[in-house]
Amino acid sequence: MKLAFLGSGQVGGALAARLAACGHEVTLAARDLRSASVEAARQREPRLRALDPLAAVTAAEVVFLATPYAAAESAVRAVASALEGKVLVDCTNPVGPGLTHGLASTRSGSEVLQAAVPAARVVKAFTIYGFENFEHSSYPGYGELKPAMLLAGDDPAAKQVVGQLCSDLGWEPVDTGPLGSSLHLEHLTLLWIKMARVQGHGPDFVWARLRRAGGRGTGQP
Ligand SMILES: NC(=O)c1ccc[n+]([C@@H]2O[C@H](COP(=O)([O-])OP(=O)(O)OC[C@H]3O[C@@H](n4cnc5c(N)ncnc54)[C@H](OP(=O)(O)O)[C@@H]3O)[C@@H](O)[C@H]2O)c1
Repeated sequence: MKLAFLGSGQVGGALAARLAACGHEVTLAARDLRSASVEAARQREPRLRALDPLAAVTAAEVVFLATPYAAAESAVRAVASALEGKVLVDCTNPVGPGLTHGLASTRSGSEVLQAAVPAARVVKAFTIYGFENFEHSSYPGYGELKPAMLLAGDDPAAKQVVGQLCSDLGWEPVDTGPLGSSLHLEHLTLLWIKMARVQGHGPDFVWARLRRAGGRGTGQP
């Protein structure tokens, strides 16, 4: 697929490089084509190219947003016309002082972004772990069990597209429901950050989903 990345730092750079290595055509949508983050990402994966944001987003089928949350709304508004009908993967997290929810839990960051670009199809994904797990998502030794990537969004087809990209990177996509579920994912992120970065668990852990064979429930497979 043709993918564009608004933000190519720790998260965007890691995901862009790995998706390019999977065979996707990935463009960094860069405000500065020679920024340190663009240079580092291209050094990591020479197949990445960089274009200005509007050109990159115009050419893309799926757009990843991986800027600091404070910059996210202006970054998507600047390319709003090119985002129309496109899948926008929101990788951002509104984090407030003391690892609190940056919007005081009143609304998810993803819903704020969806309201800013209503014609885009926002899917929250690639947020609930640290960037180390986007660089390396392999957890060998668990048989068929894959690390889980929780996602949320209002558009089922958009979630399928993002789910396939998760699978390409070795994750089991787990659909947590409508975009409103992003608020819970943002809190789950805060929990992961506290465990990994404050309580000393370190970044090398993720969640997985275990389902009882023949169990109840008619949710997604
Ligand atoms: N770090 C993590 O472990 C982690 C994990 C999950 C989710 N997240 C979320 O992912 C997002 C990115 O985090 P990160 O750690 O990857 O940040 P980062 O390493 O600081 O990279 C930020 C990227 O955004 C770009 N950027 C900054 N301000 C911008 C603006 N005003 N307009 C357009 N682009 C701008 C930067 O471009 P320049 O190079 O030009 O400055 C850079 O490419 C955040 O929302 C964070 O909450 C982070």
